This record gives sequence, C-alpha cells and structure tokens, in this order.
Amino acid sequence: MSANKDDGGWKKFLWNSDTGELLGRTGGSWIKVTLFYVVFFFCLGGIFVGTIQAMLLTLDDFRPTWQDRVAPPGLTHSPQSDKGEVNFHPKEMDSFQPLVKAMRKFMSLYDDSNQQDNMKFEDCGAEPADYKDRGDLDSSTGTKRACKFPRELLGPCSGLEDRDFGFSQGKPCLIVKLNRIVNFRPRPPANNDSIPEDAQWKVQPNVIPLHCTHKKEEDADKIGEIKYYGIGGGFPLQYYPYYGKRLHPHYLQPLVALQFTNLTRNTELRVECKVYGQNIDYNEKDRYQGRFDIKFNIQDS
Ligand SMILES: *[C@@H]1O[C@H](CO)[C@@H](O)[C@H](O)[C@H]1NC(C)=O
Ligand SMILES: *[C@@H]1O[C@H](CO)[C@@H](O)[C@H](O)[C@H]1NC(C)=O
Repeated sequence: MSANKDDGGWKKFLWNSDTGELLGRTGGSWIKVTLFYVVFFFCLGGIFVGTIQAMLLTLDDFRPTWQDRVAPPGLTHSPQSDKGEVNFHPKEMDSFQPLVKAMRKFMSLYDDSNQQDNMKFEDCGAEPADYKDRGDLDSSTGTKRACKFPRELLGPCSGLEDRDFGFSQGKPCLIVKLNRIVNFRPRPPANNDSIPEDAQWKVQPNVIPLHCTHKKEEDADKIGEIKYYGIGGGFPLQYYPYYGKRLHPHYLQPLVALQFTNLTRNTELRVECKVYGQNIDYNEKDRYQGRFDIKFNIQDS
C-alpha cells in the first residue's frame, strides 16, 4: 500500500496536472529559469570572446609582443646528436653517416642556387661590418633583403669538396649558429678583459666571437688545434638585426664552422663552445644559452 502511495507522490512531482506544475514549478517559473540561464551563458561567452579579442589587439604582426625566445640567444650546432655525443670511427662509414647526412641537409639551405635572386638577397661582404639597418619593424616598409652567406666561407667544412665534413679523416667539423631573435642586436665584448685569455685575440669590432675549449682540465692537451671558418671567426654584425619571418623571409643566419684537427683518439673528450658579448650571458639551467658542450670519442683501432 505504502509503495503505491509513494509512487503517486513521485509522479505528482514530475507532472502535477492539478496545478500545472512540472518538477514542482509552474510554467511561468520555468520561463524565468530558462531566461536566467540564457542570459548567464551569453554573458559568460561575451567575457570569453572579449578577453581573447583584447589579447589579440595587443599582438603586433611584426614585432613579437609575447616573446618566448628572448635574448640571450641559444647557440646550436649541426650535427645535433643524441645526448650531445659524437662517437665514430673514421674508417667505418656507417658510424658517421647519419651525422654527415644531417649536416648535408642543413647546409643545403645555404646552397648558392638558393641565394641567386637579387631581389631577395644582397652581398654583405666577407669581412665583419656594422649592423645592417633595414628600416622599421612594421609592414609599411615591405619585405627586407637578406645577406647572402656563401658556403665557401666555411672552407673545408663547407661540404662542397669534402662531402664527409672531415669525418672520414678523423677531423670532424661542427657547424654553429646563433638562434634567431627578432630585433636583437648582439653586442661584441666591450674590451678583451671581459673574456677568457685564450679567446681575447678574437675580440674585434663587429664580431661576436665564438670560442671553444676543453671542458675538463685533464683534457687540456688532448683537444688539439681547432680551426674556425666563417666571417671573422664568429658572428658578424651585418647579419643583424633579424626582422622576423614576415619581413625577412629569406634571412640566413651567419655560420661558423669548427674543425677539430687533432683530437686524441679512443678517449672521451668534452669541449665547450661559448659566444661572448655584452648582452650575451649564460644560464646554469639552459645548456644552449650562449654556449653548448659536446663530447667527442673518435675510435681508432
Ligand atoms: C686587449 O686590448 C688592448 C686594448 O684594446 C690591446 O692593446 C691588447 O693587445 C689586447 N690584448 C689581446 C690579447 O688581444
Ligand atoms: C697532435 O697532438 C699530439 C698530442 O696529442 C701532438 O703530439 C702532435 O704534434 C699534434 N699534431 C699536430 C699536427 O699538431
């Protein structure tokens, strides 16, 4: 009996035909509730769209507002290997083929055939020179030309004559670049006291010097001579500033090639490379900020 009674109560709650109430509310009350939620979600949507619009208004097509890659820049190299290790055997092609392949691919961006168009490229000289101002960072000035960077500047590391970049002779090359940052003007060291003694001879106006040396003291006499190729042995200022993807679509970063000509064999050697400048510094947590280190192990048996 009591079950029947309950059922009746429940049904009445769902739809009470006596009072015309649905779920305990009258028709008028339902309209109010619906209206409330329509207005509520409409306002919520409005706030959402408004916030996004406001955010977009602060963005500029040409100048990065919310820049995640801020100065100081990263220093990276090709070939980029697992765990920063370069292990190979000069007589075993397979041991260095993947590295050399990556370098060929990277260097193909710098092929002469890609730099022929004088509407897109200009000659900026093979000697270091001052910043190349190409006007404002806005659309009205149109796209900018980029400085050519001929592969021949990298000498034996250009990959033009020696397609193996020295690996097959046990004298591997590394190609180094400074990551691009829109509107950044790297400033050379103010004087030669601010940088390590063995890099001081490289200080000259209009170049950001790059210098590599042993990371561990015990490797000091095992690294051998490192040769530097490029413009002024570093990153020349005429390639800066970079105007961004839209205004500077053909931009080529200047490169520096290193050739390790006399690395001691059959031992692991750690080399650290750093760039020096007034607005370049380093971060304990970021292995690639203004520097990198790399391990070599050339087997020979
Ligand atoms: C350092 O700079 C001074 C003045 O600019 C110069 O006389 C000196 O030869 C430099 N030293 C080296 C090692 O380049
Ligand atoms: C290469 O380095 C060794 C020491 O590790 C040295 O004895 C030799 O003279 C160096 N060779 C050249 C060409 O510099």
